[in-house]
Amino acid sequence: MSAFFPFELEPPPWLYHVLVRLGLMQRLYRRLAADVAAAAPPGGLLIDVGAGTGQLLTIVAQQRPDLRLLAVDYSPAMLRHPWAGAKQPAASDRVWRLVGDAAALPLAPACGAMGLATFSFHTWQQPVQGLQEMRRVVRANGQIWIYEMNREAGLAQWRALAQEEALPFFLVAAGCKLLSWHHALRAGDLSASFRQAGIKDWDLQPVHQILWRAVF
Ligand SMILES: C[S@@+](CC[C@H](N)C(=O)[O-])C[C@H]1O[C@@H](n2cnc3c(N)ncnc32)[C@H](O)[C@@H]1O
Repeated sequence: MSAFFPFELEPPPWLYHVLVRLGLMQRLYRRLAADVAAAAPPGGLLIDVGAGTGQLLTIVAQQRPDLRLLAVDYSPAMLRHPWAGAKQPAASDRVWRLVGDAAALPLAPACGAMGLATFSFHTWQQPVQGLQEMRRVVRANGQIWIYEMNREAGLAQWRALAQEEALPFFLVAAGCKLLSWHHALRAGDLSASFRQAGIKDWDLQPVHQILWRAVF
């Protein structure tokens, strides 16, 4: 639960769709998609856990036609929302969608070349099991990337992001504050979960001014 917001708020699919269409979010998704497209092994299966509508994988599909892309989410309403991929139907059709819980992924061991979870990990009721499940379904030398909002980011980072994206500062600051109410994490929050999951080595870096990327 956020320190700034007194209760857990999981937006309904329609509200989530409205939020992800915001300019700031679209620009963040494009940055994440570029990171992923540059790193994913050729021809591999990329598994996005807590993928929502498959929004990020739809952008990756446009950049990496060789990849097989699997969006897993425990909410059928998110995966199959009629707005999902409406603007990019061909790319969206390349994203397989599978209903499943992060804590018990309905997938064979080592089937994935890379795992991904964006703004999802903080919502998992069993985060430790979720991390262990991702390790199980991604092959031994495959990377797993977790992106979350960085609660330690503040005014300096918001200002830098506003400059990089040529957006008004107040819009970026308001957007970051709104998003971080619900799901910003500290480095310690993430590290504690990795330790509990028995993960020995991980790399945790602040990226794109306002996010964490954990790689293990
Ligand atoms: C804030 S949304 C983020 C969606 C997407 N990754 C993105 O970046 O737009 C969090 C998603 O995680 C999903 N989720 C939450 N707990 C889950 C779990 N235990 N297993 C699978 N999906 C889960 C929710 O249904 C929701 O779609």
